Amino acid sequence: MEVLKNYINGEWVESVTGRKREIICPSNGELLAYTTESNEEDAKAAIKAAKEAFYGEGVFRRMAAVERSAYLLKIADLMEERAEELAKTDTLDNGKPLREAEGDVSDAIECFRYYAGLIDKPTGGVYDVNQGFGPMQTYTVHEPVGVCAQITPWNYPLLMAVWKLAPALAAGNCVVFKPSEHAPLSTIKLFEIFHEAGLPKGTANLVLGNGPEVGAVFAESEDVDMITFTGSTRTGQSIAKAAAGNLKKVGLELGGKSPLVVFADCALDAAVEWAMIGIFFNAGQVCAATSRLIIEESIKDEFLEKLVQKANAITLGPGMNNPDMGAIITEAQMNKILDYIESGKQEGATLLCGGERYTEGSCKDGFFIKPTIFDNCTKDMRIVKEEIFGPVLSVLTFKTEEEAIALANDTEYGLAGAVITKDGARALRVMKELRAGITWINCSQPTFCQAPWGGYKKSGVGRELGIHGLEEYQEVKQVNINLNPEAQVGWFEH
Ligand code: NAI
Ligand code: MG
Repeated sequence: MEVLKNYINGEWVESVTGRKREIICPSNGELLAYTTESNEEDAKAAIKAAKEAFYGEGVFRRMAAVERSAYLLKIADLMEERAEELAKTDTLDNGKPLREAEGDVSDAIECFRYYAGLIDKPTGGVYDVNQGFGPMQTYTVHEPVGVCAQITPWNYPLLMAVWKLAPALAAGNCVVFKPSEHAPLSTIKLFEIFHEAGLPKGTANLVLGNGPEVGAVFAESEDVDMITFTGSTRTGQSIAKAAAGNLKKVGLELGGKSPLVVFADCALDAAVEWAMIGIFFNAGQVCAATSRLIIEESIKDEFLEKLVQKANAITLGPGMNNPDMGAIITEAQMNKILDYIESGKQEGATLLCGGERYTEGSCKDGFFIKPTIFDNCTKDMRIVKEEIFGPVLSVLTFKTEEEAIALANDTEYGLAGAVITKDGARALRVMKELRAGITWINCSQPTFCQAPWGGYKKSGVGRELGIHGLEEYQEVKQVNINLNPEAQVGWFEH
């Protein structure tokens, strides 16, 4: 089997280590591919290529925005041609149902087209400044930051790559990129597409490997101007510390423990469905998953009866068979989730359904966990406080709106939150109090590349997507023009 390579300075190259990594399908444990396993030297070679491309000839950053836009549109077209292949790749590598992967691919294509359309629109401003130094005109321009390092997780392999690459490239940056070692295959195909689209060499560089050997080198490097990362809060913290060396710009999209607040006046069946989407989509491996159901006591029993019935009806299976829910990314992640389930039982929560690995039929060699719901949770339990990143829902109850808000905000995270009620004013009151970056009224999870995405508190720093997501990859330069260059100010003549 061929060993998939790094892409550095426009060429496919093997790591200097000569090591390779097995890429495993979580649906059945089978070997899908080998990737080259890089180290610090490879990471530095990629950074050097990006640095030369940006600060040397600077072909990409000096291009008219409309020319860079054409590259992005070309990339989107090529992705469309290979859409089915990209979706199948993520399904095999990550385990998600094929229809979810197909949705990811179409979102990814839309994201490239969105930034292609955004980049040549007017930006910057003209400022009416104080005239103390004489007639002065001031304007601002947005410029690329420089060398951007980007690190992605495994839960949305292609889509997370595109959320980072599309705005960074639109803005004219040069990039070094490391996908998760657990699901790198669709990102490799994306770089094949970059190659085919003819991106100038050194503009986008791919380094395959793990966090400590490659990701940490990106974070520390004095030659990297910005680092953006999606993944765990702990790794985000270590990246922020390492980034302090040269005070590079940092963008972090981290964990969550987001609330779904359901009031008694909700449309019950619709609310049950949003609760399902909020925790069982992508097998719960979603940073913005609404993993804490905070429900008004008076409807809890009726709501949970319907929810448990639906959760028990969820089909599990290999992603290619298009089940309701796919596998967990790795055996280690599966075991971590099972540990959380064990802790929930030990700390006294009531297990309503699931709670174990699933190994029937075609799932026998895969990493599957049954949809799991815990009732009677209290706010000090680990399954209520910590991000599980799996199909495990923890249920808490409230009697008053104030109580609901207090429970919703009782977390160190602040990525997302949702409220379900037919009372519009109440929905807006709760929304106003929620300390979270992405919020939903009468739904949970819909995500759009046109709108900013990111978290409060320990859920991160900065925003991806939308106009904010482009501006993160730009510096703002202030230009001051003296309109009377002949005049002397006379400052020292007193
Ligand atoms: P992780 O945060 O360790 O890994 C994410 C990415 O960071 C990967 O590409 C990894 O290689 C890289 N990385 C790891 N250590 C690094 C370091 N020191 N410097 C630079 N890059 C580094 O997450 P992991 O281990 O895959 O999953 C652990 C937990 O993280 C999950 O159980 C879940 O709770 C959380 N997670 C959250 C995600 C989110 O979107 N919020 C996504 C993935 C995981
Ligand atoms: Mg895999």
